Amino acid sequence: MSKNGFIFDLDGVIVDTAKYHYLAWKNLANELGFEFTEQQNELFKGVSRKRCLEILLDIGEIEASQEQFDAWMIEKNEDYLKYIEKMDASEILPDVSRVLEFLKKRQIPISLGSASKNARPILEKVELLHYFDFIVDGNNVTKAKPDPEVFLIAAEKLGVHSKNCVVFEDAVAGIQAANAAKMISIGIGDSAILSEADYNFNDFTEIDVDFLEGLINSNKMKR
Ligand code: BG6
Ligand code: MG
Repeated sequence: MSKNGFIFDLDGVIVDTAKYHYLAWKNLANELGFEFTEQQNELFKGVSRKRCLEILLDIGEIEASQEQFDAWMIEKNEDYLKYIEKMDASEILPDVSRVLEFLKKRQIPISLGSASKNARPILEKVELLHYFDFIVDGNNVTKAKPDPEVFLIAAEKLGVHSKNCVVFEDAVAGIQAANAAKMISIGIGDSAILSEADYNFNDFTEIDVDFLEGLINSNKMKR
């Protein structure tokens, strides 16, 4: 059994689906009579669908019955799925495939650790599903990031101790979840926003073989 395991978030790490989430939430906001900006969409990264709708309705100062709330959740997701439908391998973010391929060749077990309930169809669409030994997503968790649940389940499936797990994340809540799980956290994106991460990169093109080799067989030191 491998000593280490690698865990990837999906949205914003493997593919830039944040733009599709944004369009679907914006469509709903506009239908309800208010604007939703890209800046406000930052608050939605790594956050569960239910929590996103709660925040959206707060922004629009709209109160909803449980029935109406559930109907809007479904409407947003159906709209989002129309954007997902058109995705293909060209939407994989730069050098993600290279890193997955490297880990696969080194026989390192890989898990997804995502808040999304649409993770599997998206990975199928972009033809990356076969790289993942396990998929842990919004369908498997009861507590959303920054709670470490999603990553702890992934570690259990990988059969790897938490401190030997490496997590790639683009959301503050995701980095906090990885840190709470005592895993090695790698922020992908703006280092000023993801300052709590153990390591920071703008994207996977900056992650070289030496760095990956260094992570393999290393473990998280006490912070
Ligand atoms: C996260 C996204 O990965 O998944 C969030 O960053 C999104 O923006 C969440 O709300 C839930 O996704 P889905 O696909 O289940 O609506
Ligand atoms: Mg993300």
